[in-house]
Amino acid sequence: MGLVPLAFLQRIKRSDTMYNSKITGLGFYVPDHVVTNDDLSKLMDTSDEWIQERTGIRERRHVVGDSDTTTAMGVKAARIAIERAGIDKDEVDFIVFATLSPDYYFPGPGVLVQRDLGLRTVGALDVRNQCSGFVYGLSVADQYVKTGMYKNVLVIGSELHSRGLDRTTRGRGVSVIFGDGAGAAIVSREENPDKGILSTHLHSEGEHAEELSVIAPGMGKRWVTDILRDNDPDDISYYPYMNGQFVFKNAVVRFSEVILEGLKTNNLQPSDIDMLIPHQANLRISQFIQKKFGLSDDQVYNNIMQYGNTTAASIPIALTEAWEKGKIKKGDLVVLAAFGSGFTWGSAIIRW
Ligand code: COA
Repeated sequence: MGLVPLAFLQRIKRSDTMYNSKITGLGFYVPDHVVTNDDLSKLMDTSDEWIQERTGIRERRHVVGDSDTTTAMGVKAARIAIERAGIDKDEVDFIVFATLSPDYYFPGPGVLVQRDLGLRTVGALDVRNQCSGFVYGLSVADQYVKTGMYKNVLVIGSELHSRGLDRTTRGRGVSVIFGDGAGAAIVSREENPDKGILSTHLHSEGEHAEELSVIAPGMGKRWVTDILRDNDPDDISYYPYMNGQFVFKNAVVRFSEVILEGLKTNNLQPSDIDMLIPHQANLRISQFIQKKFGLSDDQVYNNIMQYGNTTAASIPIALTEAWEKGKIKKGDLVVLAAFGSGFTWGSAIIRW
């Protein structure tokens, strides 16, 4: 058999796929321990006023001791999502786990979820796309469900940042922003082509990889043995580095672009959006996007004030919370959008 002509592949449109996919269950979990801005100002030279003014964050959750891990939080969120989807855990066909803070260097947390939830020997995929990890994971699940390969895919975004932050004045530009938590979704087969995940849009620009990064330990520049050998108290290679203003400038552009790309693909306008769930990077970024698209406070959901930036977990936590509060109704147009380290960014356009 010869190669499939490109023109034929290009003709395959959404209406030609066998199925659609939709989110049938959502759950989230955050640790109990609340860390306020005032708590942080006891550890470093910062203030509630500075943090709120620049980021909108009032408090975040931190794991205490070894009470929770990235996987354990993901499992707690997943149990809720599975129950709400109305399926048995044995009906989960595949796991996608997005995180930048895995329990182990390897294996990734996907297999730990398979073990800890007692799932059949289903496949487990780990996604390393930081703040846009959940949108990337959702896109993977969407494709598997649309092609008919799987009926129910579990997508988790979970982060345990607190253990890896420099909670001194040296690290204040980064450490005040991030929080711990997890969110999960079940993506299931849907027969109605006008309902569910209409499209997803993914991008990257590796040119700026180091602008928001943790470079060690890694096999590229600095491994654990190098860090131990140097024993340098000024070594900050294993703490997150962020060029905050550069990230901010790129974020507002890419968020806007990828939301518009998704809307355009589906012949929709910004005014069609019922609920925008932006990755909770910074309240100022969300407010910029809200203003740009002329959306009201009811059309954008933010909870960074309570949880900080939880990276891959922020969208599923916010989506779950918005849904739990009744802010997302059947038939609503829900838009998810994310931007972060990589740089990577993406959006998902969903008819609820
Ligand atoms: N408390 C008090 N002062 C702080 C501080 C803190 N937590 N962090 C930094 N500062 C100081 C800096 O040292 C600097 O002092 P200087 O002027 O004496 O040198 C001053 O505040 C301004 O720092 P700067 O980094 O320019 O602040 P900013 O206005 O850019 O705000 C961020 C910093 C991180 C809040 C902002 O750049 C941002 O939100 N960027 C995007 C981050 C993001 O979204 N990341 C996630 C992407 S997924």
